[in-house]
Amino acid sequence: MKIATILGTRPEIIKMAPIIAEIDKRGIDQIVLHTGQHYDKEMSDNFFRDLEIPAPDYNIHVGSGTHGKQTGLMMKGIEEILMDEKPDIVLVQGDTNAVLAGALVCAKLHIAVGHVEAGLRSFDTTMPEEINRRVADVCSAMYFIPTEDSAINLLAEGFSRKNLIITGNTVVDACFRHLEIAKKRGFGEESLAELDIENMDNILTLTMHRAENVDIKERVTSIIDALKELSDMNIIFPIHPRTKHTLENFGLFDELNDLEHVHIVKPIGYLDFLLLTSKSTLILTDSGGLQEEAITLDVPALTLRYNTERPETVAAGGNILVGADKDAILENANKILNDKEFADKMKNAVNPYGQGDAAERTVDAIEKFHADGLLEIRAPEDIMTSFTRKMAQITEDITVSEFEAKENALVHMAFGEDKMQFPADDTNLKGMMITYDKRE
Ligand code: UD1
Ligand code: UDP
Repeated sequence: MKIATILGTRPEIIKMAPIIAEIDKRGIDQIVLHTGQHYDKEMSDNFFRDLEIPAPDYNIHVGSGTHGKQTGLMMKGIEEILMDEKPDIVLVQGDTNAVLAGALVCAKLHIAVGHVEAGLRSFDTTMPEEINRRVADVCSAMYFIPTEDSAINLLAEGFSRKNLIITGNTVVDACFRHLEIAKKRGFGEESLAELDIENMDNILTLTMHRAENVDIKERVTSIIDALKELSDMNIIFPIHPRTKHTLENFGLFDELNDLEHVHIVKPIGYLDFLLLTSKSTLILTDSGGLQEEAITLDVPALTLRYNTERPETVAAGGNILVGADKDAILENANKILNDKEFADKMKNAVNPYGQGDAAERTVDAIEKFHADGLLEIRAPEDIMTSFTRKMAQITEDITVSEFEAKENALVHMAFGEDKMQFPADDTNLKGMMITYDKRE
């Protein structure tokens, strides 16, 4: 079996690293293809170094550009490589343009796509990421899903439960493994060494890069107005290159940089960043990965967005959506800083993203699908075109697999007391209302 991984940005490198390492550990043939969407060493090379994975086999060097140009160039480059390499499955991660390009190319070449971190939905179609992840899901054959809620999103859109594998999120694998390494090594970045973070209190780690925040002057100004008033905190801001450009264009960079309690630094490596965040009193961010890492590291998070495709973190109590609203940012930040009970409740939120074995589960499932011949994408002879969509109230003790064998059916949705549940093979359906497709 040959597995190809497509990645292109910082978070994809971080979240695919545990899977790349696991594939390597099992001696499975693999190639890694970098689109070149992120190219500064602080956004790319340093992560291959910190996460101890080999440099990519290919780099398409697409660089920055409009969405259409960037995605088009990626598709052209990816197609050429995949036609030559002929992998059994291509893994894409998350919701960047690499995911869209990779999934579309594979669908056309009839190569199975495995979407890592599938099923997330913000329901905000103005975000490029929401379109990317939805299109990737349409093109995929296997879905590696962080939580039951995300699996339910896919069921609700009509995907077959047979291809949905709840794995947890590989960010937990990366976080647990590398925090230990980081603690042994200590801070390494020069820019942080100068700040003596080890002896700093009341740290607020800030990251922001979402177009809907940093490209809109009004929003970014409102966030900066809040930062100005948070002078009890030491704000460490490793700045994303996109944000640096827009702040400079808006003439806001110097004003922020001149504040004594705000320390703007270049994007930092993963080990330093884990040390920084785990030492923080509060994380203020619009990053997807950071919302997950915050709850994994037991650090309260305020998310600079009005919606999130990670609602589990909010439901668990570890994350609050504050948008770009100055008052909401200040009120919640001050509460975390001054109200111990409030802060402790956020810190104690239960991590919904698993135990750190997502990579193992992902590769287990790929090996099983491969052994069962399910990665071969060919024109079907036995496609289920003739079936009736049915509903039933189950009163007997019967698992999903047993029900499917008995009824020659595929269970689709299952409702427990008052909400949808994921119907795993061994879920006992007694007492549930289900919908299922019954073959004629
Ligand atoms: C991309 C992803 C986003 C992800 C983020 C992670 C898409 C649509 N967006 O956003 O989902 O959360 O990566 O960080 O795929 N730049 C540099 N150096 C670099 C990379 C970028 O200077 O190495 C600057 C360029 O000016 C570029 C801008 O940042 O135009 C934006 O980069 P781009 O890759 O288009 O989007 P991100 O905002 O990084
Ligand atoms: N990160 C990092 N150094 C930094 C900022 C972030 O290592 O200076 C890591 C962070 O730990 C997280 C990931 O980058 O795992 C998040 O990337 P980003 O916010 O760029 O993308 P998103 O997750 O929003 O797609």
